[in-house]
Amino acid sequence: MPQIIWDNSLSLGIREIDDQHKVLIKLINHFLEEIEKKEATVYLVKKAIDEMETYTHTHFSLEELYFKAFKYSDAPAHIKEHEHFINYVADLRKKYSPKNAFSLTSEIVSYLSAWIINHIKKTDRGYIDLFIKNGIR
Ligand SMILES: [Fe+2]
Repeated sequence: MPQIIWDNSLSLGIREIDDQHKVLIKLINHFLEEIEKKEATVYLVKKAIDEMETYTHTHFSLEELYFKAFKYSDAPAHIKEHEHFINYVADLRKKYSPKNAFSLTSEIVSYLSAWIINHIKKTDRGYIDLFIKNGIR
């Protein structure tokens, strides 16, 4: 599976958010690297899931904090997408076991990549003007 390459089509033009998205993409790419290595250990797959979970929590919280502060009208639908992602990762954690770690991985990575690209390119675009108007750069 190809790595996600950062380019302008993924940029929102808001540095704080773009930087966080870059970290997320780096995590997904790192995850890809780990599972493509034949010597990857189950521990590393687990660690990749952990990192993903922690970081998305940080990132979604920041976006949602701004939604609230700036009274973003599309917040409910946007938050629903975040929840979908969070539930997916939580579900993954439940399904995960050392025995099935590697059989789960291609499903995981295709979901994560598709989700992040779609979310950044479509959903996140909705708040750009509002954030910039409120001084977020
Ligand atoms: Fe978002």
